[in-house]
Amino acid sequence: MSAPAAVLAGLGTHVPRRVVTNDDLTRSLDTSDEWIVQRTGIRQRHWSDPGVATSDLAVEAGHRALKSAQVDAPGDIGLLVVATSTPDRQVPATAPEVAARLGLGTVAALDVGAGCSGFVYALATASAALVAGHAERVLVIGAETFRPYLDPADRTTAVIFGDGAGAVVLRRGTTDEAGALLGFDLGSDGTLHDLVVIPGNGSRPRSTDRALAPEDQYLRMNGREVFPHAVRRMAQSSSAVLATAGWDLDQVDHVVGHQANLRILYALARQLGVDPERVVTHLEQVGNTSAASIPLALADAAAQDRFRLGDRLLLTSFGAGLTWGSAVLTWPGTTPA
Ligand code: ACO
Repeated sequence: MSAPAAVLAGLGTHVPRRVVTNDDLTRSLDTSDEWIVQRTGIRQRHWSDPGVATSDLAVEAGHRALKSAQVDAPGDIGLLVVATSTPDRQVPATAPEVAARLGLGTVAALDVGAGCSGFVYALATASAALVAGHAERVLVIGAETFRPYLDPADRTTAVIFGDGAGAVVLRRGTTDEAGALLGFDLGSDGTLHDLVVIPGNGSRPRSTDRALAPEDQYLRMNGREVFPHAVRRMAQSSSAVLATAGWDLDQVDHVVGHQANLRILYALARQLGVDPERVVTHLEQVGNTSAASIPLALADAAAQDRFRLGDRLLLTSFGAGLTWGSAVLTWPGTTPA
């Protein structure tokens, strides 16, 4: 029996023009193309030029998603959700400015901060608003500008992260339509909040008399510790969302996991018992773009004609917080812009 559901209606992406290859990084860091490719799968990433912020990338991707969904009238969008860990400013949220620059008028607009799981959390937020009838169409954007937060002397983070944005338009539809989002599983473990952290941002560091050091503004990640949590939580969350949707694993045509590390994606596939052929990978080209990684991977796979109308997709993500989140949908045949 069909029920109200959020349905994917448009997809758009944007990455900065500047490409930074692994070899480029070896000029300033004690690293090598071989290490980066073997340990992560990443071959290049895009970094924003100085002066470019997250809203700039979000607006570009948002425009394209609106075009892909053939949304012309600003009033057609009832809610904008921007998933980001790198907002333009601490206050205000980035979403209202993005809404204004996209010509969306006085639409409701908010940021979602859930690290690399932000896009799936934002999809769940948008989906709930659509199903509850609070909006007919929602624009969801995952956008990140990590470059300014990367310590140029820290080879453990500088080689991993890239900048970019991916956006989708969701419309209110029904569960039997191609493109319907059919289930979510979200979770967190805040006892591990210090595994991925920018220590100098926010009220915690400002609540003390300790002067902030310039390096406190940089992202710190205990990658070795994060790795097993990423695999375990994405596997558990994937199983949970499949149970919600009533799908078996062998019915899933494509697994679109957070693009942090090829070894994590293949370990996830092994743990789930999924053929690696069904795992979508895009991080080779863009690195870890955090909240932008899933829509960027979706658009890349769609542009390569990898998805067929009605294919079953499992999205699963993991990030700072720690947070994790999964979603299932059928593919609507959308052409990304
Ligand atoms: N080049 C060369 N050597 C390096 C580099 C580098 N860029 N980085 C680390 N190394 C060295 C280390 O110093 C270490 O040397 P040692 O053995 O002499 O101590 C060795 O390589 C191995 O280091 P590990 O940290 O154990 O390397 P690992 O195989 O774990 O790979 C990585 C590191 C890629 C970060 C991996 O742990 C990972 O992907 N972790 C998960 C990241 C993730 O999913 N984050 C969540 C999302 S982030 C967010 O939400 C914002």
